Amino acid sequence: MEIITDIMSLRVRLQRESSIAFVPTMGNLHAGHLSLVQIARQHAACTVVSIFVNRLQFAPHEDFDRYPRTQENDCRLLKESGADIVFLPDEKTLYPVSQTFQVSLPVMADTLEGACRPGFFRGVATVVLKLFNIVQPQIAVFGQKDFQQLQIIRGMVEQFNLPIEILAGETVRADDGLALSSRNSYLEPKQRQEASQLAWVLQQVKQRVEAGENNFARLEQWAAQRLHERGWKVDYVAVCHQQTLSRATIDDRQYAILGAAWLGQTRLIDNLLFSRP
Ligand code: PAJ
Repeated sequence: MEIITDIMSLRVRLQRESSIAFVPTMGNLHAGHLSLVQIARQHAACTVVSIFVNRLQFAPHEDFDRYPRTQENDCRLLKESGADIVFLPDEKTLYPVSQTFQVSLPVMADTLEGACRPGFFRGVATVVLKLFNIVQPQIAVFGQKDFQQLQIIRGMVEQFNLPIEILAGETVRADDGLALSSRNSYLEPKQRQEASQLAWVLQQVKQRVEAGENNFARLEQWAAQRLHERGWKVDYVAVCHQQTLSRATIDDRQYAILGAAWLGQTRLIDNLLFSRP
């Protein structure tokens, strides 16, 4: 496995590859990230993983500075997983000048995560577009864990005619159902125990929709209330149309139930995807 930090060396190195699959990350890798590497490896001759904590997608009050940076361990895990190249740019490499050209996004980016974290998806889309242009992969792999991000990247690729196929990896969970996330490392032991409630609540909502419950607003309220009673600060629990991420109607068939909530200083997100016949 090679570790490459500058754009020119990466481009030269990638010239000899017949096909490239790319997994962008912010590091502090866990089994969720590594599952995307396995998907990438099955689809191309060369798997490139980037690690870059992207300042553009963090608001000034968010956790950019304390976001866990564990490069050495990340590279060890990637080597064991069979990645071919790790792209590890520093900030000056990706943003040599202030990034004043940025991607402008559709209304889908203003709801849910976008409503709670203004500018977040603009930062994500901008760095992903840059990374796509640098790596020029045929395949890129994203996790369903960040489902709104996945849908926005899919839309960007389609509308900008980028010659990249986007593949999605299922959410990898701990035994108690908690979706793996780099931010789980912020949780104290008691909070870690409580954290699986988010997945549990979304599961309950899913089961009730599947059972024919049509009052989605009431379900959302129930879920938020249940988390609130247990000490969470809830940003949203939403029953949405899977493609558009607008609020679902009873005529929809494909649903995404998405939730975001705080346990102390830690913000967790999760979602479930399913269809109703
Ligand atoms: P990061 O949070 O590091 O996630 C990198 C990729 O791993 C994303 O596609 C994310 O959806 C996926 N992922 C995270 N947890 C997962 C889990 N439990 N199961 C499966 N996949 C999981 O998402 C980002 O970084 C950034 O926004 C990025 C796209 C790199 C742009 O900066």
